[in-house]
Amino acid sequence: MTASGLAELAASEKILYTPRKISYVLPMSTICPSRDECLRLMTAHGMLPHIRAHSCRVRDVALAVGSHLVAAGVALHLPLLEAGALLHDIAKTASLANGGEHARLGAQWLTALGYPAVAEIIREHVWLSRHPAEPGPLREVDIVNYADKRVRHDQVVSLAERFVDLRRRYGRTPEILARISRNEARSLVLEQKIFSYLQITPTDLVVMIPCGGGDAENSTGPVERR
Ligand SMILES: [Fe+2]
Repeated sequence: MTASGLAELAASEKILYTPRKISYVLPMSTICPSRDECLRLMTAHGMLPHIRAHSCRVRDVALAVGSHLVAAGVALHLPLLEAGALLHDIAKTASLANGGEHARLGAQWLTALGYPAVAEIIREHVWLSRHPAEPGPLREVDIVNYADKRVRHDQVVSLAERFVDLRRRYGRTPEILARISRNEARSLVLEQKIFSYLQITPTDLVVMIPCGGGDAENSTGPVERR
């Protein structure tokens, strides 16, 4: 999709945001953009540096969890997991400037680019439409949703610490606070489901994933420090 096409899409959402120039064409034949393509998309959409750093850390957590799950026999597409994690907040800058739901807008952008699987991850990264207690295999959407709940800014933290942060930042009304609490309860169920497959614990992620320093954008994943 061209820059003008994206601008039209944004306008249709009553969003005044105009993406920066996009001077490349994404291949439409793959399930997800490559890491480099994701980084270019982040730049093209003016992702703020702190959101970029957060997204890279969410990618680290998603890949750490995902690679251990794959080793345990769970079927996950790791490149899709990485792309979904890197791009989950692709529309955050636009929504900060103009309002709107960044998960829905980002999903529309990736659908328009021909990546519906990435779009689904973005759409579901705040709130999973399928309750984690429902039977069914773990999916890439579950892992990115969980990883986002384990990263405060660019630091790996516990679910409890992250939800304290979410209440402080977004809990403006009793209704929103209640929804955040429901989301925390769902995230705890999801965490138990994920780690039921693994030999590591949720706390181990804090030790496994380096915080700050290094070339975070080009990291190929977590460093085992245990
Ligand atoms: Fe996020």
